[in-house]
Amino acid sequence: MEFANLVNERVSVRKYKKDPVEKEKVDALLKVLATAPSSANRQEWKYVVVSDEEILKKLTVAAESRPPISEAPLVFCIISTENKNVNDGGLNKGTIDGAIASTYLHLAACDIGLGSCWVGSFNQKLAAEAISLPEGYCIISLFAIGYPDETPNQRPRKDISDLVVYNHF
Ligand SMILES: Cc1cc2nc3c(=O)[nH]c(=O)nc-3n(C[C@H](O)[C@H](O)[C@H](O)COP(=O)(O)O)c2cc1C
Repeated sequence: MEFANLVNERVSVRKYKKDPVEKEKVDALLKVLATAPSSANRQEWKYVVVSDEEILKKLTVAAESRPPISEAPLVFCIISTENKNVNDGGLNKGTIDGAIASTYLHLAACDIGLGSCWVGSFNQKLAAEAISLPEGYCIISLFAIGYPDETPNQRPRKDISDLVVYNHF
């Protein structure tokens, strides 16, 4: 899809059909994730692709037992394998890199006709237990993915003129 159309069409989808997401589509998402940039090209990521029903149930509990995780046939866990380093600006590199991967995934899913939703509200400990996360790794986001069973309206955005200043405040 044309980039301008993609960013205009992308919305968070929280209801999905029961149909499983085909392996080819999962592979297509992973192919996009493999292109994501990271701080100093660290690539300190792991992606846990969850379609197992028992593990999905545990992730649902970790994510407040509600949509979108409770609805999704597929969840990608975006993981930072090194989430302690901060950059010169004092910002956490692993969290930033994880957010970039998450954004790539969100757009890639939309591009191939899948609905998805970024989930940041989850219990890190419970989600970690669900996927047997190794010590020291950190889940940056859970991504609910599936064929859309709703067509949400675009949510309003601030006018860009409210967000931008030129050269200085
Ligand atoms: C960092 C981040 C965390 C989010 N966490 C959640 C969440 O826990 N649950 C949820 O339903 N949506 C979550 N969302 C989705 C946002 O609510 C959504 O992107 C926002 O309302 C704008 O709507 P849109 O994505 O449809 O444009 C999250 C989005 C981001 C970027």
